[in-house]
Amino acid sequence: MIIVGNWKMNKDVKESNHFLDSFISNMKWYKQNNLRLFLSPPYPLVNDIKNKILEKKFHFELGLCAQNCHNKNFGSHTGEVSAKILKSVGFSSVIIGHSERRKSFNETNEILLEKILRCFENNLLPIFCVGETLAERQKGDQYKIIENQISILKPYSNKNNIVVAYEPVWAIGSGKTPTNEEINDIHLFIKKNLPNTSVLYGGSLNEKNAKDILPISNVDGGLVGGASLDYSKFTSIIKVANEIC
Ligand code: PGA
Repeated sequence: MIIVGNWKMNKDVKESNHFLDSFISNMKWYKQNNLRLFLSPPYPLVNDIKNKILEKKFHFELGLCAQNCHNKNFGSHTGEVSAKILKSVGFSSVIIGHSERRKSFNETNEILLEKILRCFENNLLPIFCVGETLAERQKGDQYKIIENQISILKPYSNKNNIVVAYEPVWAIGSGKTPTNEEINDIHLFIKKNLPNTSVLYGGSLNEKNAKDILPISNVDGGLVGGASLDYSKFTSIIKVANEIC
């Protein structure tokens, strides 16, 4: 199981420190096992978080996951951050193709594939997001959309070095989720197309529905947005995942 907390553009240094102090106290029960935990903060917080992890001597691994990277390793791209830089400051994984970025930054399959290749070159684990909009689901097009999104991963899927996150766009931040059966069917579809790939669920995953969603047979973990901002909610989700591991 993998649990990733995606903070998006939330928390400043003070708020992040406060979260980590409370989170570590709340995680005393936890014994490192097969569960892989990641936190995905805004880039500028990474050094502070790394120091906090060292200073607090975390008794478990908390990987740092970036929320994006550029599709080139260096160059004249003002305001951008490359996979190479991310690796050098301590990130071990990167969210690629989140629907908020696909929409706001017109990230196409071609660009997303380049980003994934940059992750491989820099030994970073890509967490690749896919999912249909509400209009696409209403037309019954979800499988077609997801098939197209994952098509770029096919040549790489046997190496066990990509994680996919199924995040229906209409479920993100909305409090709505697909039924358990719908989630399982899409995850199974992704796994049939990409053997050996872990598939996380994301989209309004919270401390209440985690006990229903995380045990679904083809769900290998969760990408948590809103609920990861609250140390107590995030810990409750980790507890559920820990019981399944
Ligand atoms: P949410 O976000 O949990 O707030 O719906 C998930 C995500 O966008 O990764």
